[in-house]
Amino acid sequence: MKLNPSDIPEVAMPFMQQTHLEEVAMLNELYTLFDRLGEGEDVPQLAGKLEALAEHTHAHFAREEEKMLELDFPPYPMHKQAHDEYLAGFDALLDAWRASGDVAPLADFLQHSTPDWMQQHIGCMDFVTARFFAMSEGG
Ligand SMILES: [Fe+2]
Ligand SMILES: [Fe+2]
Repeated sequence: MKLNPSDIPEVAMPFMQQTHLEEVAMLNELYTLFDRLGEGEDVPQLAGKLEALAEHTHAHFAREEEKMLELDFPPYPMHKQAHDEYLAGFDALLDAWRASGDVAPLADFLQHSTPDWMQQHIGCMDFVTARFFAMSEGG
């Protein structure tokens, strides 16, 4: 299954929108690799793509958080907590995969939990946050 970029609610801040679409593209690439792995193929590029997604996701959340702090966005703690909860799950599965080499639980999380989480988080917290950013900047 693939994520359709149009399933991801559009937000009013270009840097956020851009980051979300990059993440959708990275996830879709990974889904293709998981399928090929499931068919018994060797996919040596998988580890690099997973590490790249981990890095991208951390940078994505950090940039939103920096900007919320910079602009004194009152619901910052709630938004930050949502990021931290997602990362706690993601990072634990990344560590388990790095230690064991078994990618199945991480693949399951990225394919079955992440799309719903992203749609919900972006449609709710990011949507409101982006409007606040845009208004604060007169945009
Ligand atoms: Fe976001
Ligand atoms: Fe966010």
